[in-house]
Amino acid sequence: KGCKLVGCGSAVPTLQISNDDLSKIVDTNDEWISVRTGIRRRRVLSGRDNLTNLAAEAARKALEMANVDPNDLDLILMCTSTPEDLFGGAPQIQKELGCKTNPLSYDITAACSGFVLGLISAACHIRGGGFQNVLVIGADALSRYVDWTDRGTCILFGDAAGAVLVQACNSEEDGLFGFDLHSDGSGQRHLNAAIRENESNSALDSNGSVLGFPPKRSSYSCIQMNGKEVFRFAVRCVPQSIESALEKAGLPASSIDWLLLHQANQRIIDAVATRLEVPSDRVISNLANYGNTSAASIPLALDEAVRSGKVKAGQTIATAGFGAGLTWGSAIVRW
Ligand code: ACO
Repeated sequence: KGCKLVGCGSAVPTLQISNDDLSKIVDTNDEWISVRTGIRRRRVLSGRDNLTNLAAEAARKALEMANVDPNDLDLILMCTSTPEDLFGGAPQIQKELGCKTNPLSYDITAACSGFVLGLISAACHIRGGGFQNVLVIGADALSRYVDWTDRGTCILFGDAAGAVLVQACNSEEDGLFGFDLHSDGSGQRHLNAAIRENESNSALDSNGSVLGFPPKRSSYSCIQMNGKEVFRFAVRCVPQSIESALEKAGLPASSIDWLLLHQANQRIIDAVATRLEVPSDRVISNLANYGNTSAASIPLALDEAVRSGKVKAGQTIATAGFGAGLTWGSAIVRW
């Protein structure tokens, strides 16, 4: 059985924050941010915006493009590390879309690799589980976990949602050619928003005896990042992963029509493209306008590229996500 991408959509909050705006709250400037990252502005949730609404809007657009009714969905995968409910955000999307059929809905937490993992999970559900229409949403609001006094991280992130509809098809039409997924928990120290240390397991000693019961309510720290280590990791692992996915697909790098990486830093995108010898006019990049939107970045950039006519039906896209966990992975797909 095959699976193919049949629709995409995206949504961003209305509030735009420029590099100059940020220079009013931390010691930074437009030139430093643009040169080091390629980012010029980002969107941030504010007022009545929330992540569920953004994700539902992106999902509706993808369904509309695919001409699929919400009641024909049988699975919704919400790839997010910042759900509006600790227990998961996907069922709320099902409700927002008005699905009377209650498609299975659950979250996938893998930070900036979330969307690629979601895409592969969708394919596995279709190939092995008999599912027909799977909605994969990448949505994150990292602005809620950024320390807005830390110039090393607050300049990087933005909020957004993107969605892709993956549909079952016969094997001749199959649009997922190869993939490659990894994780390495030993790198967590380089990038995390971990539970505050003094709050984890505060109720139990090492023998499991109750100490100070009841435990304190837990909370997560802001994003902690060693930018240089994350940069090195991305530039080393992403090209290897794409090469491995191409090998599994039996395709040469020259068959890539578009390179669509997680939008974290223009220098990472350029370095990966150079390593794979993909010319710059075949590289999709929109992070100047949105910053790093975590799990949303790939479907957001895909949606813009499809709607602007850049990416055309039948073209081959090499996509890769990478980030916290550490996690990384790639997929070679046909649009
Ligand atoms: N404005 C001005 N100066 C700054 C800023 C800023 N916003 N941030 C840091 N600096 C200063 C530092 O203090 C340092 O000053 P010093 O030399 O006096 O000590 C100098 O600039 C250089 O800082 P570095 O951190 O070494 O700068 P670097 O070139 O490594 O760039 C950056 C930092 C942009 C964060 C880069 O390392 C990067 O992009 N890394 C990848 C990060 C990433 O992609 N993370 C997301 C992963 S996806 C996920 O899962 C969430």
